[in-house]
Amino acid sequence: MIPLRPIRSLILGVGACAPDTVVTNDNLAEKVETSDLWIRERTGIRERRMASPGESTADLALKSARFALQDANIEPSGLDGIIVATATPDMTFPSTACLVQAGLGIPGTFAFDVNAVCSGFMYALKVADSMVRSGQCETLLVIGAEVMSRFIDWTDRSTCILFGDGAGAVVLGRSDHEGEAGVGTIKLHADGRFWDLIHVPGGGSRQPVIAGKPAGNECTIRMKGAETFKMAVRTLEESVREVLKEEGIGVSEVDWVVPHQANIRILEALSDRLEIPLERFVVNIDRYGNTSAASIPMALDEAVRDKRIRPGHRLLLTAFGSGVTWGSGIVTWKGHPGGSVGR
Ligand code: ACO
Repeated sequence: MIPLRPIRSLILGVGACAPDTVVTNDNLAEKVETSDLWIRERTGIRERRMASPGESTADLALKSARFALQDANIEPSGLDGIIVATATPDMTFPSTACLVQAGLGIPGTFAFDVNAVCSGFMYALKVADSMVRSGQCETLLVIGAEVMSRFIDWTDRSTCILFGDGAGAVVLGRSDHEGEAGVGTIKLHADGRFWDLIHVPGGGSRQPVIAGKPAGNECTIRMKGAETFKMAVRTLEESVREVLKEEGIGVSEVDWVVPHQANIRILEALSDRLEIPLERFVVNIDRYGNTSAASIPMALDEAVRDKRIRPGHRLLLTAFGSGVTWGSGIVTWKGHPGGSVGR
C-alpha cells in the first residue's frame, strides 16, 4: 500500500506593488536634519515609496492580489479565503481583508486581518498553511500590505527615514503534485513585555482619536531604535536556528534568505552570525525602506521575477517586528529543479 503523503501548502503565485511616488533621502533632508549619507550608512535605504493621497492599504493589497492571482493562473472565484497582514489598516474596522474581498468581487469568501506588524506576513502564512494542511481550505490569498507613511511623525528624523509603503501577496494552495515543494516548518513567537519598543500609542481604545479632532502625534510611530536593533539581531538568529533544526538542515542547504527588510545592518549582522553570505539574502531595502508586513512578499516577488529564485530552491523567510513578534519559516519553491516557473 502506498503511504499517504501529508498535505502541504504550496505558493502557487506571487505578486507585489508599490506606489508610484518615490521619496529620496534628499527629499527627507529637506524636512528634517539628516543626510543621504547618514541614512544610507545607518540603514541601507536610498529611497522609499509613498502612497498618494486617497490611496489606501486595501488599494495596494488589491493590486498585489490581482498580480498574484494572475501569476497563479487562478480566478478570484477559486479562492476559499483572504488573510491580510497589516498594521496600517484602512479603518479600525472592518478589516482590510473585507475591502479586498469586495474589490475582488467574491462575496461569501472568508476574510480577516492579522496584525503582527513587521512579522505579520509570517503569522498570516502560518495561519493559511495550517488551514490548508488541516484540509479545511484548498486555496487562499495571503497578503502583506502597509501604508506606513500615514503613521509617521515627519518631524522625527529617527523614524521618518525608515518606513515605506507597499504590498505583496501570495496564492497558497495544496501541494498535491509537487514532490517536496511547499511550505515547511514555520515557527512564530512574541514577547509582549516589550510592547513599547515600537508602537503607535493613539488611535485605539487606550488613547482614542476624538471625533472632530484631527489626529496628532499620538497616532505616529515611536521607536527605541538601538534597543530594537539589538533585540532584532539576537532574536532573528535564534529564530532561524530553530527552524533549521526542526527541518534538519544546515545553512548551506538554504538557497535564499528572504528577510523582513528593517535595516541593512541588521541583515549584515545576521549574515555574519549565521555564516550565510549577504549575497544569498534578497535585499531591496535600498529602494523600498521598511514596508513592515509587505516586505517579505515584495522581496519574494522581486527575486522570483528576476529569476534568482528558481524551481526547487529552498527559501528561508524571517521577520522581527513590533509586539515584539518574530518568526521564521522554510519554503521550497514550486516546480522541479531545472524546470520553469512559467514567468
Ligand atoms: N539623521 C541624522 N542623525 C540621526 C538620524 C537621522 N535620520 N536619526 C538619529 N540620528 C542621530 C541621533 O539623534 C543620535 O545622535 P546623538 O548621538 O547626538 O544623540 C545618533 O544619530 C545615533 O542615534 P541612534 O538611534 O543610536 O542611531 P542608530 O545607529 O541606532 O540608528 C536606527 C538608528 C536606524 C533607527 C537603528 O537603530 C535601527 O534601524 N533600529 C532598528 C529598527 C527596526 O529594526 N525596526 C524593526 C521593526 S519596525 C516595526 O515593527 C514597525
